[in-house]
Amino acid sequence: MTTSTLHRPLLAWYSHAARDLPWRQPSTSPWGVLVSEVMLQQTPVSRVVPAYEAWVSRWPQPAALAAEPVAEAIRAWGRLGYPRRAMRLHGAATAIVDDHAGVVPCDPQVLRGLPGVGEYTAAAVAAFAYQQRVSVLDTNVRRVLTRAVVGEQAPPPHITVAERSLAETLLPADEANAATWSVAVMELGAMVCTARSPMCDTCPIAAQCAWLAAGRPAGEVARRAQPFDGTDRQVRGRLLDVLRTTSDPVPRGRLDAVWHDASQRERALRSLLDDGLAVVDKDGRYSLPV
Ligand code: ADE
Repeated sequence: MTTSTLHRPLLAWYSHAARDLPWRQPSTSPWGVLVSEVMLQQTPVSRVVPAYEAWVSRWPQPAALAAEPVAEAIRAWGRLGYPRRAMRLHGAATAIVDDHAGVVPCDPQVLRGLPGVGEYTAAAVAAFAYQQRVSVLDTNVRRVLTRAVVGEQAPPPHITVAERSLAETLLPADEANAATWSVAVMELGAMVCTARSPMCDTCPIAAQCAWLAAGRPAGEVARRAQPFDGTDRQVRGRLLDVLRTTSDPVPRGRLDAVWHDASQRERALRSLLDDGLAVVDKDGRYSLPV
């Protein structure tokens, strides 16, 4: 199979099927791309959209966020989950102002030096904000490439050298098409070639797909999303909700009221303090960090 046999149908499909997501608007700044990618790391698109729009309208540039206390970032993060990302985004904004003259870096290696920016996010910003020819490997892309080219149902648990080199080989030669290809593969994985119920009947690259040709052999059963109810993560969320919605430090009793199990509550509160998402003053009252 030549790469163009995949490129043409997938790019054509993307040109009409792509969701109209706010961070895909041509006017999106590199900062907007960074914010969206950090939010999308662990939160579904539908929940990210309103939070993203509120965030970039309040803080259209990194300098605007860096000028505010980190507590404001945690408040604005709302219930997106995994709130350390809010602190890291605030840390990234501060580093961009202090070390990069307020401009989001374009070099993936430099981007990786920012808080909260790993291999995927650095590649996504370089590609989608700066149209660089770098491969962008998220779980959706990995699944599509594994199925279409390798013929297996699911990628290995961790990114392999072989996957990196496959993604690199498939990347279109010119920069603009390379970035569009990456987002198109991602979109196919999100909308058609899903983990549990792939819609091969409507897939634009069904004719080229090695997995479909092999009769869709089953692989390892994909891990289900982490449960939430009753977990420490849920308790942390409840505690943080109290701190986010009050401006004054709260006494311990206010926090104790949100969860019945004292030892789990204690553990969750301790982890918020350890992560720097909450602070306690000399009178034993709790608040978001300043
Ligand atoms: N478009 C660009 N990056 C994306 C992502 N991570 N998820 C969904 N759509 C995107």
